[in-house]
Amino acid sequence: MKQIALTGIKSTGILHIGNYFGAIKPALELARRYDARYFIADYHALNTVKDPAVLSHCIREIAAGWLSAGLDPEQVIFYRQSSIPETFELTTMLMAFTAKGLMNRAHAYKSAVQENLDKNDPDAGINMGLFTYPVLMAADILLFDADIVPVGKDQAQHIEMTADIAKAVNFNYQKEVLKIPQAFIQEQVAVVPGLDGRKMSKSYNNSIPLFAPEKELRRLIMRIVTNSQPVSEPKDPQSSLIYQLYRLFAAQEEQASLAERYRAGGMGWGEAKEELFRVANRELSPLRERFAALMADPAGLDAILARGAQKARPIAAATVARFRKAAGID
Ligand code: TRP
Repeated sequence: MKQIALTGIKSTGILHIGNYFGAIKPALELARRYDARYFIADYHALNTVKDPAVLSHCIREIAAGWLSAGLDPEQVIFYRQSSIPETFELTTMLMAFTAKGLMNRAHAYKSAVQENLDKNDPDAGINMGLFTYPVLMAADILLFDADIVPVGKDQAQHIEMTADIAKAVNFNYQKEVLKIPQAFIQEQVAVVPGLDGRKMSKSYNNSIPLFAPEKELRRLIMRIVTNSQPVSEPKDPQSSLIYQLYRLFAAQEEQASLAERYRAGGMGWGEAKEELFRVANRELSPLRERFAALMADPAGLDAILARGAQKARPIAAATVARFRKAAGID
């Protein structure tokens, strides 16, 4: 039997090519070897997104984004967290096994408190959703018997907390009520540089949106800041942001041949940007088309997610039933 890989995708913001190469592609690759369960963490998003129009749009956009990038809903169980009411029952059960001190140590919560240090109120702007965020996340994971949880490094602590909480449950009942998951952090995954050379991130305002229209894609690439080396001068591909982005989209031979042109001299930055635009657009234009089609058919999109929820719920219900029985609430 295949092992189970599960991950949650928070529906905040729009997808950029950093997400595509850093999270989406590796997760889709993993789905070929594992029994994959991927979901939109819309209740996690609610902690920060309070505008209903923004949230509902974001949920659809993220779902359509993953589908356009190649997620096959026949192969992956793909659903919305909010469609699985068992998540919230399990969250309540896990609360009883979660030390408050453990939550105090969560990085996201601690940094929010830290930011409040100069105010009189350490709790300013912190809702209980943020404080209990790791418990909801533990429920997401434990509900589906996940073996591995592919996440970025920033989420590793949450997975450790999940394992701690699950162990507390299993220890209490002296049996394996919940499967202990492990974080799966792919070290070799590309860190995609943003337009300013720092890591591509929404918060740095340096990203290339995954579904940018062709013109916008071109405009963003042309905006990349370069040095004043003249056309004739040989250039170093490895230290060039344009080349680093080019490598993500290009085949091996293309990479080698562009590197050669860099080193030979005679190629200006404008030309290098044209090459980057060409390979980026080649990869992204079919995604863009699928994305537009999915977004134009909200009912179809909702139906895909509803089918995913239908497959997910019996698994979730079995976990909750197992826990209730162990707990004496049956
Ligand atoms: N906290 C994760 C993030 O911010 C999203 C998430 C929610 C998640 N539930 C999860 C990730 C369960 C993995 C497993 O990216």
